[in-house]
Amino acid sequence: MSQERLTNQDETVSSGENSADPTSEPLVDSAIEVPGKNATSTGRTILRAQSFDVYYDDVQALQDVNIEIPEKQVTAMIGPSGCGKSTFLRSINRMNDLVDAARIEGELLFRGKNVYDEDVDPVALRRKIGMVFQHPNPFPKSIFDNVAYGLRVQDMDVDEQQVVEESLKKAALWDEVKDQLDKSALDLSGGQQQRLCIARAIAVDPEVILMDEPASALDPIATSKIEDLIDDLAEDYTVVIVTHNMQQAARISDKTAVFLTGGELVEFDDTEKIFENPEHQRVEDYITGKFG
Ligand SMILES: Nc1ncnc2c1ncn2[C@@H]1O[C@H](COP(=O)(O)OP(=O)(O)O)[C@@H](O)[C@H]1O
Ligand SMILES: [Mg+2]
Repeated sequence: MSQERLTNQDETVSSGENSADPTSEPLVDSAIEVPGKNATSTGRTILRAQSFDVYYDDVQALQDVNIEIPEKQVTAMIGPSGCGKSTFLRSINRMNDLVDAARIEGELLFRGKNVYDEDVDPVALRRKIGMVFQHPNPFPKSIFDNVAYGLRVQDMDVDEQQVVEESLKKAALWDEVKDQLDKSALDLSGGQQQRLCIARAIAVDPEVILMDEPASALDPIATSKIEDLIDDLAEDYTVVIVTHNMQQAARISDKTAVFLTGGELVEFDDTEKIFENPEHQRVEDYITGKFG
């Protein structure tokens, strides 16, 4: 894995108080390589929100969120519509920067580095923290060119052929498309397109993959393939997935965060605990379908 920086080359490194965190990696020091997919999984924290708020103009979408997301596990975000799940996910790789009305307070740390620090380059950040959306969004290009897209944009010095093949294999799509890599991605089925988007996200060698309801537009068989794939991906990557399907969260995640109306993170724990014996009555009511 090549050396990675989140910051612009010319900027000096700010040492916030969190840089003392012994579990964090000095992401902004180009001399030190960030442990990538070959590092042993320790379940240590890779993402941490501290007193994190998001507003859209005057409307508060997330309130005082505190969470520590473990590395190389699947963390699910559940909760009723409008409770801020997508907002939180988009905050992690600064996709909310693209929304003019959005404003944040508090800190969001990736390996101990606040991603909102002035010296963080959002493009470099999004390479480390990729995203897959609800509706598959392949480019009107060939299957090969879709997966190679990020490599070319980022001008990455890699063997394209090899990375495309590996990424498609990791996304459980290779066997279905290996003889038609020149074919348009738009001719694939919805489920195949979503796995292609996952391959495209993987190709640039991220550490975290954010998924916002990645299977909600797919049929049950395609959904089940995505769920199996997510389980495999957690061997190499940290997966954070928003789902409105509680059974899906229970099936595929190690940890579950329950957001409720008002943008409050009410409970975060092992998935089994959340679904079998939650601490909060409001969470139990939501899980058992009394509201939401
Ligand atoms: N781009 C935006 N501009 C203004 N308000 C937004 C925007 N995106 C989301 N919101 C508001 O923020 C709140 C949380 O939305 P969202 O994060 O999409 O929730 P969820 O994904 O849980 O359904 C909602 O009240 C929603 O209307
Ligand atoms: Mg949403």
